Amino acid sequence: MKFWSQWLLRHNVVHSQVCQDDDGLYWLLNNKKKRIDWFEKHQLYHRSGMSKKHHKLLQAVYGRTDSTPFILDACAGLGNDMFIMGLGGCEVIACEKNPQVFAVLSDMMARAQKKKWFGQENINLIFGSAENIMRTWPGYRARPDVVYLDPMFEKDFKGEVKANSAFLKSLVDIETSKDLFEIALNFANSKVVVKRPNQADHLSDAKPTYIIEGKTTRYDVYQVG
Ligand SMILES: C[S@@+](CC[C@H](N)C(=O)[O-])C[C@H]1O[C@@H](n2cnc3c(N)ncnc32)[C@H](O)[C@@H]1O
Repeated sequence: MKFWSQWLLRHNVVHSQVCQDDDGLYWLLNNKKKRIDWFEKHQLYHRSGMSKKHHKLLQAVYGRTDSTPFILDACAGLGNDMFIMGLGGCEVIACEKNPQVFAVLSDMMARAQKKKWFGQENINLIFGSAENIMRTWPGYRARPDVVYLDPMFEKDFKGEVKANSAFLKSLVDIETSKDLFEIALNFANSKVVVKRPNQADHLSDAKPTYIIEGKTTRYDVYQVG
């Protein structure tokens, strides 16, 4: 656990809302300790096997093919989507540019990796801005098939995610993500998938190739290759 204290110190984020106890990193919401616990929930999916049938996000990133896509999750946040894609068999590189969010995300991965059922998933975390990661992608490494974007937006989801999004909103600015979107369109091998609330405009007002709609959220799919 000393590792995280040192990392937080180095990135000058002590005295922040992220705290540490013997069980790892947490933040406070209404005086209650909160941690990311996606992996506990997704354990159920893991047991029964997760596929396109189970989640619209997987329908969006797989499309019509059955071959497992290589994905750059450019907005990892608290890692829920990253986990779904990983459990759905995708190879995922997830990047997060906010040091406090990255710290709690990495802490969750470290806790998940201690679980017996977790381990086959091909998920890697990178700290940094996705724009930078795409611009400096090494030539010898194949580019991801899919770049997945889930930038912050104004409206809250309901229920459990709301508590998490309150934490994210206290740390992360809402951005237009115009540059991120442009770079992603030129970088992805096959498509860019953008998560949006159903009532929101398309990112950068760009018309998607097609849309996969859920109850509150939709996935705008931009085919590029
Ligand atoms: C809405 S949250 C993502 C939630 C995530 N999909 C999940 O399932 O938990 C947006 C996150 O993306 C991060 N982010 C936004 N733009 C980014 C960029 N250009 N590079 C890296 N991270 C970025 C923000 O710091 C924030 O933590």
